[in-house]
Amino acid sequence: VLDRGAERRQWAAMVRARQAGAVDQLVAAARDADGAVTRCLHWLGVLRHVERLVRHAGGPRPSEEVARHRAGLEAAADEAWSHVAAAGMAVIAQARSRLGLRVAVIGKGGTGKSFVSATLARLLARRGRPVLAVDFDTNPGLAFSLGVPPTLGVLPDDALMQHPGAAYGWGLGDGLAPAAIVDRHAVAAPDGVRLVTVGKIGGADKDAARKTIAAVRELAGAFGEPDWDVVGDLEAGPTTPFERYHAFADRALVVVSPTWVSAMTARRLLPMVDDVEALVVGNQFRDEPDHAGLEPLGRIPWDADVAEAERRGRSPLDHCPDSPAVAAVARLADALTRQEVMR
Ligand SMILES: Nc1ncnc2c1ncn2[C@@H]1O[C@H](COP(=O)(O)OP(=O)(O)O)[C@@H](O)[C@H]1O
Ligand SMILES: [Mg+2]
Repeated sequence: VLDRGAERRQWAAMVRARQAGAVDQLVAAARDADGAVTRCLHWLGVLRHVERLVRHAGGPRPSEEVARHRAGLEAAADEAWSHVAAAGMAVIAQARSRLGLRVAVIGKGGTGKSFVSATLARLLARRGRPVLAVDFDTNPGLAFSLGVPPTLGVLPDDALMQHPGAAYGWGLGDGLAPAAIVDRHAVAAPDGVRLVTVGKIGGADKDAARKTIAAVRELAGAFGEPDWDVVGDLEAGPTTPFERYHAFADRALVVVSPTWVSAMTARRLLPMVDDVEALVVGNQFRDEPDHAGLEPLGRIPWDADVAEAERRGRSPLDHCPDSPAVAAVARLADALTRQEVMR
């Protein structure tokens, strides 16, 4: 008789071991970093990464093995704290301005998640920031909005591993560190954005989605490069936040359009992402009022050129770089990079 529980526990232990290995590498890089600001940036990155992992590591009564894992993470956080605390305020402020964003974009289908994700990613990259865009949606979207063919950026089999305890029987392979996987397998998109995407349901490779979903989630969660922005475009609606696909992020952008149903979706999503900073973004607005209780951080206007870009299969940033909607996403990028928060 197959013991599914044992297989799942074995897989979870492997995932934790890889998390710990990736944290060790981040800590080693921080110890080696040159220059006060860069060193502080690395330790801030360790701190943020490890605190996020601890938040998701086991419940209130962890097993002995999970408790050991958490203790290891907390030791890394302690070391990071001591270095950050020893840095001066000016150094910390400069380091924080270089700390990459971790943003999950969620909301009802059609509200413009892929437009916002892609445009944000490209604009951040144009500011010289390294950017990883992650498409968690099994329907193509982000690649089109970025301006790359939607078949690219799918993790190949040699980055994956078959394991009966992993979701759908497949997960991230053992061989490479998260940053090395991105380096090797993320596709280069315009402006230097790197894109990793789950395989598409209905794509040519019928197994691609099944094989890559858990792997992409683990990759995004384990990717701790301190200066990289990570922008994740989640599948529409409540299922993926309910399943905690946003666990890689410290912020969720909840996109609402003028429709009542997008506001209803946003209200249902907000409690599901209450472990991160949730920020409402209004998109496709003409002169409709904001939805009650959903005052947006940013308002992106309805823009005929953006819709036209989609019909032509072009990235909005290539089709209409000077459009009001793109300008509004640039202001959103300003707001996000200015008020970087530690959680
Ligand atoms: N501000 C905007 N103005 C006009 N059309 C927009 C705007 N934002 C998105 N769109 C269009 O709305 C449609 C849905 O956008 P998309 O980003 O694919 O949404 P989602 O990823 O949330 O399903 C696309 O045709 C897109 O071009
Ligand atoms: Mg989409």
